[in-house]
Amino acid sequence: MKSICADLVLQRLAPEAGAALNRQLYNCLREAILDGSLPPSSLLPASRDLAREIGMSRNTVLHAYAQLQAEGYGHSRVGSGTFVAETAPDNFLSAGRPVTAAAAASAPVRLSKRAQTLLANASAAPVQWGAFMPGVPDVTQFPHRHYSRILHRLWRAPAPELLTYSHGGGHPALRTAIAEHLRVARSVRCDADQILLTEGVHQAIDMTLRMLVDPRETVWVEEPGYWGFHKVLQMDAVRVRPLHVESDDEGPGAGWPRGGKPPRLIFVTPSHQYPLGSVMSLARRRELLDFARAAGSWIVEDDYDSEFRFAGRPIPAMQGLEPDSPVIYVGTFSKTLFPGLRVGYMVLPRALAQPFRTAHADLYREGHAITQAALAALIDQGHYAAHIRRMRVLYARRRALLAGLIGEHLGPEYLHPQASNAGLHLVLRLPDGSDDVAIARAAQARGVLTRPLSAYYQRGGAQRGLLLGYACVQEEHIEPAFKVLLRCLQSSSSRAA
Ligand SMILES: Cc1ncc(COP(=O)(O)O)c(C=O)c1O
Repeated sequence: MKSICADLVLQRLAPEAGAALNRQLYNCLREAILDGSLPPSSLLPASRDLAREIGMSRNTVLHAYAQLQAEGYGHSRVGSGTFVAETAPDNFLSAGRPVTAAAAASAPVRLSKRAQTLLANASAAPVQWGAFMPGVPDVTQFPHRHYSRILHRLWRAPAPELLTYSHGGGHPALRTAIAEHLRVARSVRCDADQILLTEGVHQAIDMTLRMLVDPRETVWVEEPGYWGFHKVLQMDAVRVRPLHVESDDEGPGAGWPRGGKPPRLIFVTPSHQYPLGSVMSLARRRELLDFARAAGSWIVEDDYDSEFRFAGRPIPAMQGLEPDSPVIYVGTFSKTLFPGLRVGYMVLPRALAQPFRTAHADLYREGHAITQAALAALIDQGHYAAHIRRMRVLYARRRALLAGLIGEHLGPEYLHPQASNAGLHLVLRLPDGSDDVAIARAAQARGVLTRPLSAYYQRGGAQRGLLLGYACVQEEHIEPAFKVLLRCLQSSSSRAA
């Protein structure tokens, strides 16, 4: 079998009229070193091997290697072979990759209109860890010893079906484990056949839109709502109508869009509204279910962090309120375990399960079966439930600490009135007219991450505030980070005065 270096030479070697073979080979390798294809310190193949692989004599290769060394592009170590130099000679460096990269970066590219809209308001934060990054669990607490022991066992003799594309909605053991967990922990009515494993909620939303909504059809989305939904909705070119969630006191249905065609989908976070944190009342849930049945709409219930409720009775999922409810339930391991895992799940109404499973395999080429098998074992052995129990205690403590600091230094009215005692973040309410975007920016410049509440609104009338994630902040860091934030708030209000 050929080495990668031989593949590179065979692809790039262009016969130069009149040039000796060793010179041609030398030029080819030198170019590859300069453009970074052969990285600094990498080992070149043994001369005998390369000669055989590229059909040249060993002497030709030895000559080329000697020339590279003479000019400082390589060096040899006795008994180890020939290596690319750590730094190529200065006079050649400027002629290589940087110029090409700069030229490529400035070349105009034509992006689709959808892509331009997406990029104009790119929302994913480059830094995802530290005080007070919202929505991130304490990944340092993940039971990695149990997980790596399970993975190690699976990797000792992995069955072929763990390493090929999967089909049928994901690994059966994980679908069964999730169905059992959801029936007990969230009162979801389901069996394993209704579960489809995804790469997280984003993929579940994308999939649902592609399967159930055509471009320019209407969907309802909570206002304010999760920015990630809007990104996917923009890409799929659907019409969005706001479902206002701030009018809870005005009785069921008060914030619903009026008139127009019924929506194909209604996106909600009933157990813990994102980002405000309210709980949708039972009356409102029933009314929404009745409406969806009558209108032929599907409700998409995003139950992203409901495992973390620190006071009162657990709130069962809307999906399980009625048999055969018109609800597509989506969940994720991003909050209970860690976001980089990229494993989520959908619970599909029976009529949708088979079409979604088939489409999912065709669209995304499912995989990660070995990860899914490991997760199933983690759940079956009780580590998942134990981890959630431990994290509940930890996050409740961190939330209480942060809420206490807000009450003490700013006053209880700064805690958002709709927030329930749950989740991984709380909302620090700011006076109307505050520039929450500027405050978040100033805090970020001082190393404290937050998200401005107004950014979660698509229309006017945005409330001002800051989303503060407490789950990923160790207790001893909460107060110092909060004091930094306080200074940003104080300097913003003294500028406004
Ligand atoms: C409301 C809500 N839904 C879904 C997600 C993302 O889930 P996933 O990581 O599974 O795509 C988030 C992430 O912060 C979220 O806040």
